[in-house]
Amino acid sequence: MTEGGKKKILVLNGPNLNMLGTREPEIYGSETLADIEKNMTARAEILGYIIDFRQTNSEGKLIDWIQQTTIQQDSEKYSAILLNAGAFTHTSVAILDALQTVNIPIIELHLSNIFKREKFRHHSYISPAANGVICGFGGNSYILALEAAHHILNKV
Ligand code: DQA
Repeated sequence: MTEGGKKKILVLNGPNLNMLGTREPEIYGSETLADIEKNMTARAEILGYIIDFRQTNSEGKLIDWIQQTTIQQDSEKYSAILLNAGAFTHTSVAILDALQTVNIPIIELHLSNIFKREKFRHHSYISPAANGVICGFGGNSYILALEAAHHILNKV
């Protein structure tokens, strides 16, 4: 919770998501990550949340950020994590382990419908730690993930 009384939501983006806009637009669309952040922030303001939006190409950094949510002081605490782990979704037991120690809602999300794509994308190591998964709606997956977290946090 921030001083203004708004809940904070951590939005984590993994590898190659900094390339959105130019990266395989036929799969991921033409929106950039900055566009997505802007749209999310606008929606978050309406719902009453502060978004902390981050991207890294490093697996270790993602793990550090996930771990921080479990050790933060009350005033700085996050209320939920929304995570697009990119390709680490399909490879990382270490990210799963980090998520297993978190006790706030976790929404896994993907721009593309991973089940419509190559077989190696059908399996997610991180889903067992998530409250739910949203995929296939392009940049809108982020908004839907935010709405999902809002529903969980407000039990509506
Ligand atoms: C992705 C899907 C992953 O399979 C892929 O490796 C990504 C992006 C998505 O948002 O659709 O980097 O997470």
